[in-house]
Amino acid sequence: MEISNICNLKCTFSKEAFGVCAQWKVNKVSTLMSFDFFKKIADETGRYLTNAELCNYGESFMNPYAAEMIRYLKKVNPNVVIEIHTNGHFFETEEKRVTIVDSGLDILLFSVDGITQEVYEKYRIGGNLKIVTDAIRGICKLKKDMKVNKPKIIFQFILFEHNFHEALNAEKFAKDLGVDEVALKTDIFSCHPELKISHAHLYNSILRLQSKDSRDSFFKENTNAGTSFCDFPWTYPTILADKRIVVCCRDMYYKSVVGKIGDNDTLLQVWNGEGYQEFRKKFLKGEVGYPCNECECRPKK
Ligand SMILES: C[S@@+](CC[C@H](N)C(=O)[O-])C[C@H]1O[C@@H](n2cnc3c(N)ncnc32)[C@H](O)[C@@H]1O
Ligand code: SF4
Ligand code: SF4
Repeated sequence: MEISNICNLKCTFSKEAFGVCAQWKVNKVSTLMSFDFFKKIADETGRYLTNAELCNYGESFMNPYAAEMIRYLKKVNPNVVIEIHTNGHFFETEEKRVTIVDSGLDILLFSVDGITQEVYEKYRIGGNLKIVTDAIRGICKLKKDMKVNKPKIIFQFILFEHNFHEALNAEKFAKDLGVDEVALKTDIFSCHPELKISHAHLYNSILRLQSKDSRDSFFKENTNAGTSFCDFPWTYPTILADKRIVVCCRDMYYKSVVGKIGDNDTLLQVWNGEGYQEFRKKFLKGEVGYPCNECECRPKK
């Protein structure tokens, strides 16, 4: 669920970057998901969920109800594994750190693609590495002081050409902050297989570091383009902050809208509605376009 579609940073396309965060470019109304809407979805679906990611294109912790939402969903279903990815700029006080550690969140992934300010801000435009590292260190220390294991803290480093040279030192940098896991996101190797040979040392280290829990490891394990089947259309809807539903979190341009949850609608109605069914039929025939035609997870025609 996209509990915020706004962000304080402007991670953006650059010549070297593999991707682009389009959160500030796409046609959308800036929205923080309301707590009432979140509750409505949690009440309807919470007890069936195994996993819930409370982020999409935006910074979830700009939503002042983020921690309350986590707490609510955990009350509905204590077993659901809740994960949030963050740019890490909203944990500047002890009070905020305690709130998140207390919330019941299972996995908190920090996106940090550089270990010096100069390299970090090349992609994370507007970001301040010190604020982020203070937050990570503070939360890790707090967990230790409180003798709790959750949330698991993951330090994620997305590999771009501009930060290659910092990638291997990132593990030590992150461990010194006290994190539980370091994950290097490797999309660049799927897109440029020749790098696996020319940068074999880095590639092997990355394989070792890849996250077990993060859903991204799903993609990494399936780098055999087109040979694995994706069940997301039957298992994993993406609910946008403005109540529309897209078929996948990979749709960064919100082009695959299959419905919208009105005040009197349920998620189930959209889930079984015409838009979704039509998409699934086409998906099975290999006839869907973006985002699936640009994704390595489904069988090619
Ligand atoms: C769009 S972000 C939203 C959450 C949060 N604002 C953040 O940056 O972590 C969701 C995930 O996409 C990742 N991401 C951002 N830019 C990316 C890129 N160019 N390629 C692959 N993943 C990217 C983020 O690091 C994060 O793990
Ligand atoms: S911090 Fe996250 S949501 Fe914000 S612009 Fe960067 S990748 Fe996008
Ligand atoms: S974009 Fe990829 S992961 Fe998403 S539904 Fe399509 S095939 Fe599955």
